[in-house]
Amino acid sequence: MSVTVRVPAKVNVQLGVGAARPDGYHDLANVFLAVGLHDEITVTPADELRVTCDGPDCDQVPLDRTNLAARAAEALAARYGRSPGVHIHIAKDIPVAGGMAGGSADGAGALVACDALWGTGASRDELLDICAELGSDVPFSLVGGAALGIGRGEQLTPLEVGGTFHWVFAMAGRGLSTPAVFREFDRLGEGTDIPAPVASGELLAALAKGDPDALAAAVSNDLQPAALSLFPELADTLATGRAAGALTALVSGSGPTTAFLVRGPESAAAVAQALLTSGTCRTVRTASGPAPGATVVDAAETIPGR
Ligand code: C5P
Repeated sequence: MSVTVRVPAKVNVQLGVGAARPDGYHDLANVFLAVGLHDEITVTPADELRVTCDGPDCDQVPLDRTNLAARAAEALAARYGRSPGVHIHIAKDIPVAGGMAGGSADGAGALVACDALWGTGASRDELLDICAELGSDVPFSLVGGAALGIGRGEQLTPLEVGGTFHWVFAMAGRGLSTPAVFREFDRLGEGTDIPAPVASGELLAALAKGDPDALAAAVSNDLQPAALSLFPELADTLATGRAAGALTALVSGSGPTTAFLVRGPESAAAVAQALLTSGTCRTVRTASGPAPGATVVDAAETIPGR
């Protein structure tokens, strides 16, 4: 008996960041787009909670209770008064500590998988509440598609997308810590008046139209200067992709993955090739979005209550 859930990565096409709040978080105007790079989470009954992982970067994934997938299983089990005895296997393809919500994807995936395995029948809103407790980006991993996230980023409004956007992603040789990037944002902004973030009307219109040129003109990431300050070599990666014909280039979320919007599969191949041969990144991937959120792709027939 097992359940497998596929969960997408995300790129932030807008990441508007306000001043630090008293609770240490930042108000965001966060426009998420889910893209077709996935982790797959498989859960199987076990005597105790256990996490395993395979994939290119799996040696950097914590296998203890700090893993968001383990915390998701514990949170769901606690809410339904049952044991969290489950083996969670993560087949990892989303870069680790890359700014593409890989950890969040595993949290949302484990939650949906355990819900199906245990037949808890939790409502979508309950699952979203647990996601928001787990982390700011976790609710979006559950819903996928495209959405505006405000507050910490967890209060979501789904967005219409009128077409498919094609991307190349360049993975860096090391990760960046999200809290460290936010701290650097605070340091760089010290003494300045940081306005409250608002979603860009041009950007939302470009998404709704499915227009890559308009989207390229409207993307923004307020964390980019902080990520570049901590990881200056990323500027070379961005310049390489732009020179190879990307419509725009930006740091994905808190980085260090860089994202290149391209017109279609042909220019994706050219940009990917240029990035690979430049030596300014570790590896590249192409993916398009929007992609669906956490989805059960395989479930045994013997699941109780289903
Ligand atoms: O919510 P999550 O645990 O994913 O956030 C990780 C870290 O990122 C937080 O501890 C905080 O340092 C930073 N963060 C923030 N403002 C947000 C979201 C995250 O400062 N809106």
